Parts: sequence; structure tokens; C-alpha cells
Amino acid sequence: MNGTITVNGTEMKIDFDPIDTLLDVLRNNGHTEVKRGCSKGECGTCLILLDDLLVNSCQVFAATALGKRVTTSTGLNEDGRPHTIHEAFADAGAVQCGFCTPGMVMATHSLLRESPDPTEEEIRAGLVGNLCRCTGYVKIIDAVKLASKRMREHG
Ligand code: FES
Ligand code: FES
Repeated sequence: MNGTITVNGTEMKIDFDPIDTLLDVLRNNGHTEVKRGCSKGECGTCLILLDDLLVNSCQVFAATALGKRVTTSTGLNEDGRPHTIHEAFADAGAVQCGFCTPGMVMATHSLLRESPDPTEEEIRAGLVGNLCRCTGYVKIIDAVKLASKRMREHG
């Protein structure tokens, strides 16, 4: 099968098997910033935006994405600079091995779009589908608070 998807603003022609997931196609075409953890929809490392919907790309058939916009964590960058959320994760010390970080960043982006000044409870709920085996989550929650503060102050 083949078709076209738009990834981070760039149109991409793809060839794929009917059973391929969107995660397969993204990684096979160089978007290795989208991580493969469990392939079962349980870890959140493969989160992307499909149009404006946050989805685990391992749970979406590639065919479903034809003609749609995909945004990965790299696609959040602004004018070649890291997004405020990326910077907040680095500054808060929320990145250890970094494997979970792209998914955490995408979940945070969606959370802050819905709730720009979330409570800690809302942050925990927003990240409930994302697993991290390094940080113990405390610094990740700090990072989300920091990103929220900076985005409210600077837009
Ligand atoms: S790899 Fe998709 S949720 Fe774990
Ligand atoms: S920083 Fe290693 S899994 Fe989260």
C-alpha cells in the first residue's frame, strides 16, 4: 500500500504493509524521535498528534493516517529552537535516559493546551498513560509546572 502523510509540516510519501502501524511507518522513515516501548498502548513513548488528537502511534494503522497531519515531539520546535516544554524538562532535571521524554512532552503539550495552569492532580492524570522507569516522576511533574509557568508568562 502507499499514500501520503504530512509529518511536522512536510509531506511524506509512504509505502507500507496493511498491518503496519503509524509507529512502524514513522520510525522506518527516519522519525526515530517517536519511541517504541511496549507496542501495546501501555507506555506512552510513541505518543504523537494525529491532526489535533493525541494518540499512541503503535495503536493506529498507518492506513488510518493517510492524508492527515502528524506532529511528533520534534515538530513542536519553534523556529529551530526547542519548545518551552522541551526546555522545561531539561531545566527541571526531568530527563535521565530520555526514552520516555518525547512521549511525556507530547502528553504535556496536550495537557497544557486543555488546562494551561493544571493542578498537581491534573498533571498526574494527564500523564497517567506515560511510563518512566528512571525518574520517579517527581521531576517530571516539576517540569510540567515549569513549562506551564513559562508558557503562561511568555505565551
Ligand atoms: S509503544 Fe505505543 S504505547 Fe508503548
Ligand atoms: S527518563 Fe528514562 S524512562 Fe523516563
